[in-house]
Amino acid sequence: MTKSTITIDTHIEPAAAADSIKLEVVRALTSTPKALTPKWLYDDRGSELFDEITRLKEYYPTEAERSILDEHAEAIAEISGADTVVELGSGTSDKTRTLLDAFWKQGQLQSFVPFDVSEATLIDAADMLAARYEGLDVHAVVGDFNHHLPTLPTLGRRMVAFLGSTIGNFHVEERRAFLGALADTLRPDEWLLLGTDLVKDVGRIVSAYNDDSGITEAFTLNVLDVLNREFDGNLPVDQFDFVPLWDPTEERMDLRLRAAMPFVARFEALDLDVNFGEGEELRVEVSTKFRPDRIRAELLDAGFEVEQLWTAPGPSAGDPDDFGLILARRI
Ligand code: SAH
Ligand code: TRP
Repeated sequence: MTKSTITIDTHIEPAAAADSIKLEVVRALTSTPKALTPKWLYDDRGSELFDEITRLKEYYPTEAERSILDEHAEAIAEISGADTVVELGSGTSDKTRTLLDAFWKQGQLQSFVPFDVSEATLIDAADMLAARYEGLDVHAVVGDFNHHLPTLPTLGRRMVAFLGSTIGNFHVEERRAFLGALADTLRPDEWLLLGTDLVKDVGRIVSAYNDDSGITEAFTLNVLDVLNREFDGNLPVDQFDFVPLWDPTEERMDLRLRAAMPFVARFEALDLDVNFGEGEELRVEVSTKFRPDRIRAELLDAGFEVEQLWTAPGPSAGDPDDFGLILARRI
């Protein structure tokens, strides 16, 4: 029997040691409005809290996407003919097992390339999958998909999976840049498998980001602990309120933290003082909901042609579809 191999490429330096990261955070905390990039949510604790989110009764996207993967994994393997699955923002790669099982059963899986900022979660997932598939080459990449896509290994014929509607966490311009960079790193006839949460009843969307047990609130507030730890800061975590807003124009959730009172926070590692006014908000993340025609057009613009769009149905007859999984070919 052939043993699986695991290699790990690391492109992330300790935050406080890297000038580019420091600059990014200084800009985020001194811009108007203050706005962070979502990757700061996913330290070890944040990754655990996100895993809890995926099991909340209010958070429908995970099970909706899983049901599509369960049903269509074999077709995805067949249509793509890929021998290498790359997964961006792979996290625990929990749902991905269904997909990899189908590739494996058809004897076509040679390499799996999980790619995430969260190193501990990534390594756990790499170990789990190397043990599951005897002889698999697991090539893990610790990196930021906003910066490090050009470093993706150019193994075999690739399909890049980007699941969990993480694409919805980009702003419009960032989404365009990301899709463009991804298209640039893929060769014609390689593939993108993209999970997209769809526009639906606002009440259900809002509950998915404002659960009764307060896990999403804890997940969002955790970003303040991350900033304090990484940059030797003193943000008063208990002075922030969690504000989950639905933005009807942009059709996205807009998750913010609002300062209950004015204060100045000091970040020693950045040599920076940050003023917060009373009621001032720190934007933490957006979660955009998609319409199939629009995302199709955006993909085409970037150089991807949609080959298949599979959907999970809404909760009742007549409701719009809940979630879409798109298989698109680099043209
Ligand atoms: N794919 C999983 C996890 C989604 S949560 C699912 O479908 O459930 C988003 C994941 O993306 C987290 O694991 C987080 O660590 C990772 N992530 C967030 N921003 C990132 C970035 N800029 N670069 C790489 N990974 C990132
Ligand atoms: N990709 C997930 C989403 O948009 C991330 C997420 C789920 C999230 N719940 C959250 C991000 C709460 C911030 C806060 O659905």
